[in-house]
Amino acid sequence: MLQLVPGDSTKVLILGSDGYLGWPLTLRLLARGHEVSGMDNLFTRRAVAEVGSTSGVPILGPEGRVRAAKELLGSSPTFYRGDVTNYKALEKVISKERPDAVVHFAEQRSAPYSMIDERHAAYTMSNNIVGTINLIYAVMKSGRDTQVVKMGTMGEFGTPNFDIPEAAWVDTKINGKMDTITVPKWAGSWYHWTKVHDTNNLLFANRLWGITSTDIMQGPVYGLRTTDITDPRLFTRFDFDGDWGTVLNRYCVEAVLGMPLTVHGKGGQVRGFLSLEDSMEALRLLLENPPEPGGYRPVNQFRELYSVAELADFVKDVGGRMGLDVKITNIKNPRVEKEQHHYKVESKVLPSLGFNRLKKNIKDEIRLILEDLAPYKSRLGRYRKAIMPRTLWKK
Ligand SMILES: NC(=O)c1ccc[n+]([C@@H]2O[C@H](COP(=O)([O-])OP(=O)(O)OC[C@H]3O[C@@H](n4cnc5c(N)ncnc54)[C@H](O)[C@@H]3O)[C@@H](O)[C@H]2O)c1
Repeated sequence: MLQLVPGDSTKVLILGSDGYLGWPLTLRLLARGHEVSGMDNLFTRRAVAEVGSTSGVPILGPEGRVRAAKELLGSSPTFYRGDVTNYKALEKVISKERPDAVVHFAEQRSAPYSMIDERHAAYTMSNNIVGTINLIYAVMKSGRDTQVVKMGTMGEFGTPNFDIPEAAWVDTKINGKMDTITVPKWAGSWYHWTKVHDTNNLLFANRLWGITSTDIMQGPVYGLRTTDITDPRLFTRFDFDGDWGTVLNRYCVEAVLGMPLTVHGKGGQVRGFLSLEDSMEALRLLLENPPEPGGYRPVNQFRELYSVAELADFVKDVGGRMGLDVKITNIKNPRVEKEQHHYKVESKVLPSLGFNRLKKNIKDEIRLILEDLAPYKSRLGRYRKAIMPRTLWKK
């Protein structure tokens, strides 16, 4: 396999390249001198509009983004508008691009959206699981040793009483006999279950055909800047509504709008968070340091553990020092989840690749988000109604 090292022009195909993570990863890899192509069916743009919201900062369309990258960075990706659940379309792109690595982001990624009703649950199941199966087959049939970098979620594990290992397999005793089984998982939404199913399918394909894979379990991401996003024309989408916004991004919008920060339930839910910059840096490291050919590498991708109540306190503190009057309120939790629980997660792979200690304190990052959002206050205000959760896990 071609080793991705800085300076080498290596080919990376990003599925879901129009999304929150896909676009900044495109920029990061271009800036590193890699050759980048992307495929997206623009589903997220439509689905966010469906729930009455939009990106908190204005973003260009995919063709405009290609032009902006060319103008501002001097290089640009090849963009394919297409659906990864259409096998022929995906196979065509893969056989044309012949990538050394495919990063797979192209899934319906909102847990609340997947819980709206049976139609949204079924869409999430088929979109996510079929897309991954298509990718597995397209890579297998290409006959090339392409690294599949699949983005899953820490939410696959749920909140178990054991420390979460960074491993696919675990030794255990069942009915008095030892065996090796896959790490037990207990997801908390239909969306999160699709990621568990994807992991099983990827693991099976790896055992069967030796598909080289990096299976990332990532925590919630926050922020709207990376070191490559140097101009508003390069902005990535920034979701903040009750269905699509991740928690810290939503709190920041609430703070800018003078709304109380809405903590779900008691707020003791602990997760492994990371900034957008950290997410890009982790992905770059994983792409530039692939596993051995035929290897399967599970990765727990996060920076620090925080409870959602702690995050609200951080935003109140930073916002207060910036002159915002930030209040916190506890609302009925729309989800079914433990609000106090054990949470300890193993992380060895990224530190071994040099994923450095925090470059920025989380409060500095929150300050940056609040500063970046301030000019868009009236835009955000127009979508105020979409911020409160509207999807309940139990009707
Ligand atoms: N953002 C986070 O905090 C976070 C955390 C953990 C895991 N993830 C995972 O990372 C991946 C990227 O997340 P994101 O935040 O960038 O989400 P996003 O919704 O902004 O991006 C996903 C992109 O995939 C596209 N897409 C969806 N289905 C497709 C299909 N069938 N064919 C082609 N394109 C399709 C969407 O249009 C969108 O542009 C997702 O798989 C998500 O589950 C995200």
